[in-house]
Amino acid sequence: MTKMLYNDSLIDINDAKLSINDRGFQFGDGIYEVIKVYDGSMFTATEHIDRLYRSADEIRLVIPYTKDVLHKMLYDLVEANELVTGHIYLQITRGVAPRNHAFPTEFTMPTFIAYTQEAKRPINNHRFGVSAIFVEDIRWLRCDIKSLNLLGNVLAKQKAHEAHCYEAIQHRGEIITEGASSNIYGIKDGVLYTHPINNYILNGITRQVVMECCKKIKLPVVEEPFTKEQALQMDEVFLSSTTSEITPIIKIDDTIIQSGEPGKYTRKIQLAFEEKIQQLLLV
Ligand code: PDD
Repeated sequence: MTKMLYNDSLIDINDAKLSINDRGFQFGDGIYEVIKVYDGSMFTATEHIDRLYRSADEIRLVIPYTKDVLHKMLYDLVEANELVTGHIYLQITRGVAPRNHAFPTEFTMPTFIAYTQEAKRPINNHRFGVSAIFVEDIRWLRCDIKSLNLLGNVLAKQKAHEAHCYEAIQHRGEIITEGASSNIYGIKDGVLYTHPINNYILNGITRQVVMECCKKIKLPVVEEPFTKEQALQMDEVFLSSTTSEITPIIKIDDTIIQSGEPGKYTRKIQLAFEEKIQQLLLV
């Protein structure tokens, strides 16, 4: 039977019972992470756990485990489910209490859950690229917090889905922020551009790895906002996320980016990313 973590216990996934009074369910009052697993090993788990604790601090939620204990719990979950390739989803909410917007008492225990999902790597997307659309970014002003409140992201992604596109590239006015569930990059004349880390975007863990890959391949990086118009003029555009990894974007709305094929720098970043995964597996 597939297992999940429910607070600090490993239970059968079919035995999970969640309260209708859980604040995650009623207010989206909680945070989450998605961690990739390659060949049974968690990728950049420390960075994801650090970001979870940062999100928790930002919403004044106290996680009742140390980072090391949480890491071990996730490790045990992957082992129990014999997960080879896929990801872990984990979330923590402010717990169960009668519905009232203000925080419950300090004695209310957060609700923690985590489960695993088998998922093949999207290699066809990596090879051929995907299409995207522009969507106005209507989200709140704390997109740096990996909050369970994803309604803006959900509506953007649905628009992309209805347009038969893989991703929605969100923009505030003319400025591109990030994808519905990814970070966005453009490359022009041998320089990589991406939105700086601030409250308008999530500090993607894959983005952090992309930055290392750029250093490795000696591709200069400019962390400055760029516009929709500039995006359409880029030599290459791509997105990154835990599940999508490095995915070229070959079309935005009706505009084909350059030749309509993944660009050479994107390919180099993909290769450097692949090396990072291989390093993980050697440890
Ligand atoms: N999404 N920006 C947003 C809005 C995201 O939802 C994500 C990831 C990212 C990329 O972050 P990372 O590289 O740490 O995965 C950027 C996850 C995968 C999700 O919600 O499923």
